[in-house]
Amino acid sequence: MTGANGQVGSAAVRLLEPLSRHQTVAADRQTCDLASRDSVEQCIGEVAPELIINAAAMTDVDGCETNSDAAYAVNALGMRYLAEAANRVDAHIVHVSTDYVFDGGATVPYHEWDRTNPQSIYGASKLGGEIEVMTHAHRWTIARTAWVYGSGKNFVDTIIARARQGDPLAVVDDQRGCPTFAADLAAMLVTLGVARRTGMFHVTNQGSCTWFDLARLALALVGLDPACVTPMASTELDRPAPRPANSVLDNRALRLGGIDLLRPYQEALAEYLGVTPLSDQRLEALGVA
Ligand SMILES: NC(=O)c1ccc[n+]([C@@H]2O[C@H](COP(=O)([O-])OP(=O)(O)OC[C@H]3O[C@@H](n4cnc5c(N)ncnc54)[C@H](OP(=O)(O)O)[C@@H]3O)[C@@H](O)[C@H]2O)c1
Repeated sequence: MTGANGQVGSAAVRLLEPLSRHQTVAADRQTCDLASRDSVEQCIGEVAPELIINAAAMTDVDGCETNSDAAYAVNALGMRYLAEAANRVDAHIVHVSTDYVFDGGATVPYHEWDRTNPQSIYGASKLGGEIEVMTHAHRWTIARTAWVYGSGKNFVDTIIARARQGDPLAVVDDQRGCPTFAADLAAMLVTLGVARRTGMFHVTNQGSCTWFDLARLALALVGLDPACVTPMASTELDRPAPRPANSVLDNRALRLGGIDLLRPYQEALAEYLGVTPLSDQRLEALGVA
C-alpha cells in the first residue's frame, strides 16, 4: 500500500490489516517516495508484494499548477518507477486516478472509453501516470474516482466545522460529481486487485450532486441547518486550476462486468458521519433524492 497516510490509503490499510491471510505493508512517503526511483526500487524490492495498491499522489490541485515539475515527478514519472519495480517482483498494480483527466464539458457522465482532455496540471500529470501504468506495468488495474472524503482534510468535515463556528457558507453550485466515501472506494480497490481485474474502471459511490447539494446534505445529516449554505458560481472563486464542471463518472466497466456497484452516496455519507440516513422525503426536500 503506497500513500498509506492519505484518505484512500489509510482506508485501505484499515480494511486490509485485520485480514490474517495477507500481510499488509503500509508505505508512506518516507518509505516509498514516488519522486525517487531509488526509494521506490528499494521499498518494492524489499517487500516483494504480490499486489500494490497505489494511493500516493500530489493531490494539491492548485499546488500542481504552480509546481508542475513536482506534479509530473510524482503523478507521472513516479508511476513509471512503480511499474518498473512492480514488474521486477511480478506484482499487480492497482492505481488510483481521477475525474480531472476529463475536461468536464460533457453533458452526460464520463465512461472509461471517453476521450480524456485534462484542463489542469494535476489532471494532465495524473493522465501521464495512467499512461505510464498502461504502457509499462505488466499487470495493472486503474480506478478513476472523484470527490473523495475520508479520514483526513476533506470538504465534508470542513463544511460541518465551519457551520458549527457560525461562518457564512457559500458553496459552488455549478460543478457536479459523485461524492465517494474512501472506505467504499478502498473496498473496491481490494476487490479489483485480489481478483486481478485488468484495465480501467470508474469507481464512485452512485448518484451525483453539486458541491452545494453535498454541503446541505452533510449539514442536514448532522442536524445543522442546511439553509445556512448559499449557492455561488465557480467563477467567483478565482482558483489557479480550473475544476471540471461535470465530474460525474459512469461506472460502466463495473456495471457491464457484473461487479456490484458502490452504494448510493447519500447512504455512504451517513455512515461516514455515523448517523442514520435521511428518509426519502427529506432527501427529496433537500433536492438530493
Ligand atoms: N481526494 C479526491 O477527491 C480525489 C479525487 C479523485 C482522485 N483522487 C486520487 O485518489 C488518490 C488518493 O487521494 P487521497 O484523497 O487519499 O489524497 P491524500 O489524502 O492527499 O493522500 C495522498 C497521499 O500521497 C502521499 N504522497 C504525496 N507525495 C508523495 C510522494 N512523492 N511519494 C509518496 N507518497 C506521496 C501523501 O503523503 P504526505 O501526507 O506526506 O504528503 C498522502 O499521504 C490519488 O491518486 C488522487 O489523485 C482523489
